[in-house]
Amino acid sequence: MVTVMSDHYYSAEPRSRLKLYKLTAYLKGFHLQFITASGVFSPRSIDRGTRVLVENMIIKDGWKVLDLGCGYGVIGIVAAKLAPNGFVILTDINKRAVWLARLNVKVNDVRRNTDVRLGNLYEPVRGEVFDTIITNPPQSAGLKVCYKIIDEAPLLLKEEGILQLVARHSKGGKRLAERMKKVFGNYRVLAKSGGYWVYASIKG
Ligand SMILES: C[S@@+](CC[C@H](N)C(=O)[O-])C[C@H]1O[C@@H](n2cnc3c(N)ncnc32)[C@H](O)[C@@H]1O
Repeated sequence: MVTVMSDHYYSAEPRSRLKLYKLTAYLKGFHLQFITASGVFSPRSIDRGTRVLVENMIIKDGWKVLDLGCGYGVIGIVAAKLAPNGFVILTDINKRAVWLARLNVKVNDVRRNTDVRLGNLYEPVRGEVFDTIITNPPQSAGLKVCYKIIDEAPLLLKEEGILQLVARHSKGGKRLAERMKKVFGNYRVLAKSGGYWVYASIKG
């Protein structure tokens, strides 16, 4: 019998042979560089949904920010640039993604106000609270995982803290927005582009 090991971008330990790539991007007024690799989400180009999210996310300087499921770090690194007096924690379950995000916070000179942590969902930040949680959620990992991100978010948000999430509205986004409405009692759409919608819910 042949056992096929599946390797998804959300695997804790990708088994695919390591291939490295380098991307450059202009995001939210910053020229950035990213080292990426096989075995992580969207390694050859910055994902369209990620771009829509970073161009439209609400970030204020001084905020404490969580980038949940950071991949190689795009969202958290832009947030750290926008909030030089704030602090951004980036987390992911994928060891290779965490390794890359740690390299990329150095490459983009935001090491000082960031911390990259490995772990499942909110485990690496238990007991901490944030002004905002931002995520391009792992929809391929299933609806249950995405619902957990939404359901537990209020426990990790300060009063008036904001959950910001991007998804394709017609590919699961609508259901995630409905869940946000159920859990927070509110949501609004910050942006729509190319089928991707950015949703935000406020704790309050
Ligand atoms: C859609 S990708 C977004 C990656 C990155 N934020 C971006 O926008 O390029 C979702 C990320 O969530 C991570 N992920 C999946 N399941 C997770 C879990 N249970 N806990 C933490 N991160 C998870 C994946 O490894 C992946 O990097």
